[in-house]
Amino acid sequence: MKASLGGGKGPRGGKLSMRLPAGIRPPGAGWLSANARRAEGRGSATFSGLAIHGGVMTPTAFRPAYTVQTEHTVLRCWSPADAPLALRAIEANLEHLLPWMEWAKRYPMNVAQQAGQMRRMRGLFDLGQDFAYGVFNRDGSEVLGGTGLHPRVGEGALEIGYWISAGHTGRGIATEVAGALTRVAFEVEGVRRVEIHCDPRNVRSAAVARRLGFVLEGTLRQRLVAPDGVLRDTMVWTLLADEYPASRAAATPVEAFDVLGQKLL
Ligand SMILES: CC(C)(COP(=O)(O)OP(=O)(O)OC[C@H]1O[C@@H](n2cnc3c(N)ncnc32)[C@H](O)[C@@H]1OP(=O)(O)O)[C@@H](O)C(=O)NCCC(=O)NCCS
Repeated sequence: MKASLGGGKGPRGGKLSMRLPAGIRPPGAGWLSANARRAEGRGSATFSGLAIHGGVMTPTAFRPAYTVQTEHTVLRCWSPADAPLALRAIEANLEHLLPWMEWAKRYPMNVAQQAGQMRRMRGLFDLGQDFAYGVFNRDGSEVLGGTGLHPRVGEGALEIGYWISAGHTGRGIATEVAGALTRVAFEVEGVRRVEIHCDPRNVRSAAVARRLGFVLEGTLRQRLVAPDGVLRDTMVWTLLADEYPASRAAATPVEAFDVLGQKLL
C-alpha cells in the first residue's frame, strides 16, 4: 500500500493526516519543503514528499515540479513528442556521452524507439517514481541535455544525474541545472540527502558536485559496469539537508511549477 505523508488524498478522497513513523524526521532544522509548508498550513502532517511503498520510504512529492526554470534553461519532464529533438541531440553527442552514460550504448535508435523510451520516462514521472527532465534552451526550441532526480539511492534521498551537449559545455550549464534540481529535491520533495555519483575519471562531473557544495563521501570500488563493459569505481558526493542552506546550490536562481503551472518555488 502507498500512503502519502500529509496532503495526499485518502481512498475515499479525504485528506490523509498521518503522523510521521518513528525515526522519520523532517529535513534539516530551520526550514521546511514547499509541500511541507502547505501541509502545515492545512494543519495536517508536518512533512511531505515521502511516501511508503511496501514499507520502504521513497521520495515522491504529491506535487512534483514538472517545469523548472533556471537562468539559461528550462527543465521539463520529457514528452514522447520530444523524441525527434532529443534523438538529434543525443546522436550528435554520442562520442561525448559514451564514456560516461551507460544508456548511450543503446544508440543509434529510430525515432519510434526514442518515443517509446520517453513514454516510459513520462509514465514514471507521472506516477512519481522517477523524474527525468529534458534540458531545453529558454524558448524550448533546442535540447541542451538531460537531467533527472532519481530515487534509487535509498529512503529520503534523491540522486541527480546530468548530461549537457558538447557544444554547450564549459558555460556553467550543468552546475546551474544540478543546482536547480538540488533546490527542487530539498525544497519541493523534502528529502534529507541529495547525491551525485560519478566516475573518478570524470573530473568535469566531479567539479560540478564540488562547486555546488556536495561532499565526497567516498569512492566505491568497481561498483558499476561502464559503457565499455569494464568495471569502474564510483564517487558518491552528498549534500545533507542541514548543509544545504549554506551551499552554493541553495543560491541557484530557480522557479518551479507543478503540472498545473502553479508555482512551487
Ligand atoms: C560533465 C558535464 C555535465 C559538464 O558540463 P558543463 O556544463 O561543462 O559543466 P559546468 O556547468 O560545471 O561548467 C563548468 C565549466 O564552465 C565554466 N563556467 C562558466 N561560467 C560558469 C558559471 N557561471 N558557473 C560555473 N561554471 C562556469 C567553468 O569555469 C567550467 O569550465 P572548465 O570545465 O573549463 O573548468 C558535461 O561535460 C557532460 O555532459 N559530459 C558527458 C556526460 C557526463 O559525463 N555526465 C555526468 C555523468 S556523472
